[in-house]
This record gives sequence, C-alpha cells and structure tokens, in this order.
Amino acid sequence: MAYSSLLLEVDERGIALVTINRPDKLNALNRAVIDDLEDCFQDLDSDDDIRCVILTGAGHKAFAAGADIQMFRDMGEEDAVSFARRGQNVFNIIEQCTMPVIAAVNGFALGGGCELALACHIRIASENAQFGQPEINLGILPGFGGTQRLPRIVGPGIAAEMILTGERVSASRAFEIGLVNRVSSPDALIKDARAVAAVIAEKAPLAIAYAIEAFRAADEINFEEGLEREVQLFGRAFGTQDAVEGVSAFLEKRKPKFTGA
Ligand code: COA
Repeated sequence: MAYSSLLLEVDERGIALVTINRPDKLNALNRAVIDDLEDCFQDLDSDDDIRCVILTGAGHKAFAAGADIQMFRDMGEEDAVSFARRGQNVFNIIEQCTMPVIAAVNGFALGGGCELALACHIRIASENAQFGQPEINLGILPGFGGTQRLPRIVGPGIAAEMILTGERVSASRAFEIGLVNRVSSPDALIKDARAVAAVIAEKAPLAIAYAIEAFRAADEINFEEGLEREVQLFGRAFGTQDAVEGVSAFLEKRKPKFTGA
C-alpha cells in the first residue's frame, strides 16, 4: 500500500498512522490527496489486522488548510457540484469505516481540513491547532459536509457563527465547544492519539464496528429506528465468539483474549 500524497505506517498492534504529506502547501486537499484518502481508507477498512487509524498532517503547521484553492480559480457550477460530491463521498468512506478513525489535528484545520476532522470519529488537537470554515471569505460555503456535521457536533448556533463569520477557533475554544475531545502539546499529540488508539485496539473488533454503526445511526435515522438498530446490533454482538470470551473472562476474573471472530 503506497500513496503519492500520504504516508502510512502500521504498528504491531494494528494502529495505522496516515499522514497527509503536502507540508509546503499546508496539506491542502488537491485531487491527488482526495483520491489517496479514498484508496487508503478503503484498503485499511478491508484489512482485518487494522484496529484503529490515526489521521494527521505532515509538518508542525497544518492538519490540512482546506481544499486546494488553486483548483477553484476556473471552477464553474457543474465542476463545483461534482467536486463537492467527490469530497463528500470520500469523507463518508472515512466516517463509515468499521474501525475507529482519530484525527490528530496538528495545526490549521480549515475548510475541507476542518470537515475532514469532523468526518473522523474522535478528534484530538495540539495546542497550536486552529479550526475554521473560512469558505465565506472566498465568497463560497463549505462543500465537504461541514454545514451538516458541524451543527451536529457543536450545535447550530456555534456552527452558524463559524460558517458565517469564517473566523478561526483556537484549540482551547475547540475543546470548550466540543469540537475536540482533548488538547495535547504539539510534541505529545501523536503519542496521546496512539494511547487512545491502543485502548481501542485491545477491544473486540466486531463490537467496535457494531458500536460505530450504532452511534452513527443517531445522526442518520430517527430515534425509534435508532433504538431498533441498537437492538439488532446488540443481538449480533451476542452472536460473536468475542462476546462469549469477554463475558467468560470477566466471570473468571481474567483478561479477555479477543480474536475478532
Ligand atoms: N489551497 C492551496 N494552497 C494553500 C492553501 C489552500 N487551501 N492553504 C495554504 N496554501 C499554500 C499557500 O498558498 C502557500 O503556498 P506558496 O508557498 O506556494 O505561496 C503555502 O501553502 C503556505 O501558506 P501561507 O499562506 O504562506 O502560510 P501562512 O502561515 O502565511 O498562512 C493560512 C496560513 C492557513 C492562514 C493561509 O495559508 C490560509 O488562509 N490558507 C487558506 C485557508 C482557506 O481559506 N481554506 C479553505 C479553502 S476552501
């Protein structure tokens, strides 16, 4: 698995570190990066040995400073529609992964970069991170899912302010508004993300996948249907060998050995 715009490392615990690698352009999302993200996350999701993915940006300055604005110069309405669809589809692939995806936001997460972080299941920011949806300053609006995911995560009022003013929020403010789960020093960011990933990597993979499917349903279907989805997934979990192992291990006062079956 090699990608022209991404770096990929996988450790012995099945924790993958994916790094967007255009530091000279602040990891702006051009077509090559978007294509690679699609290929990479599809490859990782179909690999049973991967337990958790951390997504970050190369360098100390940016996670991703947005869609590549160079591409917007001659973009007409039709191209814009297909570009937004393309970005949304790829970010949906990330959000729909059966293993958890952690955004380790190491600097600017602006525009499409902020939307990319929003598509991840867990967000951790370094103290120098800055989040924003500055598209309004270009005379446009977010097109990679930001108008839908941001209000669901931070609430409609704060999302409206971010989208309509284009102003950036600091890492500490991002923590206050629930945009990130925690804030780390720049040097500790990847170590801290790995620590969260390591906790998840020890759990039963099928239970993790079902849990992701269940909590994602909260955004997608109504409450009653969501409860029914939970019932079905709860039942499926009981059909796994790992559930037998987890319950037995608890009752026998030992650590479970999950196999993914
Ligand atoms: N698209 C394309 N190139 C970008 C980019 C983007 N979204 N963001 C940064 N870059 C490029 C710059 O053009 C510059 O390239 P150059 O060295 O060839 O001139 C390089 O990355 C470094 O950026 P620079 O602007 O010099 O860094 P800075 O520290 O002065 O400012 C930002 C950093 C993030 C504040 C500024 O780059 C910025 O506002 N970027 C655009 C953010 C945005 O509007 N994103 C939403 C797009 S829809």
